[in-house]
Amino acid sequence: MTIRLMHVSDVHAGPPFAAEIAAVVAREAQAYAPDVFVVSGDFVQRADELAQWQTITTWLAQTPQPRFVVPGNHDVPLYNVWNRLFNPYIHYTRHISTDLMPVMHLNGVSLIGANTAFGWTIDGGYLSPAQQTHIRTAAASAPAGNRRIVVMHHHLVNPPGVGRRNRVANPEAIATLLDECQIDVVMSGHIHLSYVGHTRDLVPSLARGTIICQAGTATSRRGKGRERHMCAYNTVEMSATQVVIRRHVYDPSTQKFVVRVEHHEELQA
Ligand SMILES: [Fe+2]
Ligand SMILES: [Fe+2]
Repeated sequence: MTIRLMHVSDVHAGPPFAAEIAAVVAREAQAYAPDVFVVSGDFVQRADELAQWQTITTWLAQTPQPRFVVPGNHDVPLYNVWNRLFNPYIHYTRHISTDLMPVMHLNGVSLIGANTAFGWTIDGGYLSPAQQTHIRTAAASAPAGNRRIVVMHHHLVNPPGVGRRNRVANPEAIATLLDECQIDVVMSGHIHLSYVGHTRDLVPSLARGTIICQAGTATSRRGKGRERHMCAYNTVEMSATQVVIRRHVYDPSTQKFVVRVEHHEELQA
């Protein structure tokens, strides 16, 4: 049995939003009909702007169900300091989801959402002790034999080409936590650059390690590094023994996404 997921990130309604490309993403998502449609945060560019939430909820309604979503740092207010510090998820919970730590158990795969976006940092990410406990508890509750995926906005590893972007704080400790929880794949965004790696790149001594699946920006003009000004998303197909991650990149000449890279990664027993 193979579970099919579509992984989209950093959709960024607002000035960088490419509405025509967003429409293509929604159409291709409907055609692919994944078991789960995943969005790993940064729904808007400026969370203070109501119109941006309206744009993105209209787009989201065109994408397939079920959806699995987590917030990103851009989904926290920037200019309204009171909200940023004391009510950082006011807009996200109103427009996107009231669940900041979603968990979804399917037949074969369990998804665990973690919230790395906080009000007191503009760009960086953080997994609080409560979030870490949440990951442990949710992983322990996964049905026997299920593969485990964690979705969180901030990334663990800076691949070449993005400089020293703010990762989740204490990435080595988080990689160790994921390893202890036997997480097979961690899906993230934030850097606007597609990348597939492994947490053993970060902590070579890990017992199993976790496959890192980074999605670029699906619908904004803020692609970075080799994906500068480009849009991309991933499809992820998991069987009992392997995961296949395909990077789909937008081709302006055909106005479609095309598969540019295909990764085949073995899953640990
Ligand atoms: Fe972003
Ligand atoms: Fe971000």
